[in-house]
Amino acid sequence: MRTLLAKSDIRDASLADAGMRKIEWASAHMPVLRHIHDQFQQSKPFSGMRVAISLHLEAKTAYLGLVIQAGGAQVIMTGSNPLSTQDDVCAALVASGVVVYAMHNPTEQQYIASHHRALDAYPDLIIDDGGDLVALLHTTRTDALAHVRGGAEETTTGMMRLRALGKQLRFPMVAVNDAQCKYLFDNRYGTGQSVFDAINRTTNLVISGKTVVVVGYGWCGKGVAMRASGLGAHVIVTEIDPIKAIEAVMDGYAVMPMSDAVAQGDVFVTVTGNRDVITTAHMMGMKHGAILANAGHFDIEIDVASLRTIASVRTVRPLIDAYTLPNGKVVYVLADGRLVNLAAGDGHPVEIMDMTFALQALALQYVHEAHAALPREIVALPRAVDERVARYKLSTLGIAIDALTDVQKAYYAGALHDACQ
Ligand code: NAD
Ligand code: ADE
Repeated sequence: MRTLLAKSDIRDASLADAGMRKIEWASAHMPVLRHIHDQFQQSKPFSGMRVAISLHLEAKTAYLGLVIQAGGAQVIMTGSNPLSTQDDVCAALVASGVVVYAMHNPTEQQYIASHHRALDAYPDLIIDDGGDLVALLHTTRTDALAHVRGGAEETTTGMMRLRALGKQLRFPMVAVNDAQCKYLFDNRYGTGQSVFDAINRTTNLVISGKTVVVVGYGWCGKGVAMRASGLGAHVIVTEIDPIKAIEAVMDGYAVMPMSDAVAQGDVFVTVTGNRDVITTAHMMGMKHGAILANAGHFDIEIDVASLRTIASVRTVRPLIDAYTLPNGKVVYVLADGRLVNLAAGDGHPVEIMDMTFALQALALQYVHEAHAALPREIVALPRAVDERVARYKLSTLGIAIDALTDVQKAYYAGALHDACQ
């Protein structure tokens, strides 16, 4: 049986004003999500529902939480990475009536406990970024499964974990990451810009003229390579997928194995969703002063754990650790190898997350309303929702597009095919 919610557990409630200013700035630049907010406020689609959200807890995410709250839900929020939570934003959320279990840089125990506490609420709906809530619900927290109608997943790594669960998945999860208005913009342009925002503000070094090695040429990697190139870098791509590798060649980048790239790179950015893509053996072959950053979901892409066992470490600037290797060379690791754009920055640009979080809000409404008819598996976000977000985004940008004429519709439908023979 569901009990009253336990009270929030955050670092410092007195930071609420600063957090609220950040949320106001974000929401002022999120017209699509604001529009959904106004609709939800009228129609209250989540009336009486408890919604548990595990996302990078910064201003844009906070606004998503408030939009779902405006839709009538009791919202419970926790972070999806120990370094991406912003304490002032948490304070503002609590002041606005959201229950928050999150703080910046918690211990591992505190981090895990915060996810348990979100599930102690016995939510009806969930939003996950990376699959931590779903993983708990299918292992140690099956007690909380009974209420869950469904949820939505934000990122590629979370989708991989959902696919790994396969038929064991106990409720429908909407694949927000796989919507076109998500990965074409968030993974590509969002990661591309925010990774360099974080690297630049952390290191204060120039990118132009340097060699940037992009590890993985998926949607995020394409964006990182594009922006590195735009900043004047020489770009090398490493891949394991032959098709992505040709794509990178055709896009104009050098492609080679990591074992060759190590000696050439000045800056390395991992975006694979895989583990150990940069090992200590690779690091031993790098130039003195090479900079290593990860933008993949988990902090296992660069093998920092093994690095700690062979190298001495000194923090040389906030979020920059200098590791002296056994061969005397130094490599710099940013943000402990955690996703750099959120651990050392504010995440993706606001206008990009306007689309992503509009999809999240509408995905949650969809799974809530359709859950009884949906299979207990990964569910695609309906194309109509994707298009609705795109059309609204265009209208907020003051951009009109053409529509098919009746003749064109008929031609597509094949009616004119015979007449043209
Ligand atoms: P994707 O599947 O489109 O691309 C990953 C690419 O990495 C693939 O092309 C794959 O072949 C390649 N790869 C796998 N192992 C490799 C290896 N050993 N060496 C070289 N390449 C390898 O995934 P994506 O959408 O680009 O996401 C990548 C990661 O970034 C995921 O963990 C995702 O969750 C995360 N992500 C982070 C942010 C962020 O804000 N930092 C945003 C979106 C996604
Ligand atoms: N801000 C909040 N969530 C984010 C995400 N998943 N990626 C980038 N920036 C974000």
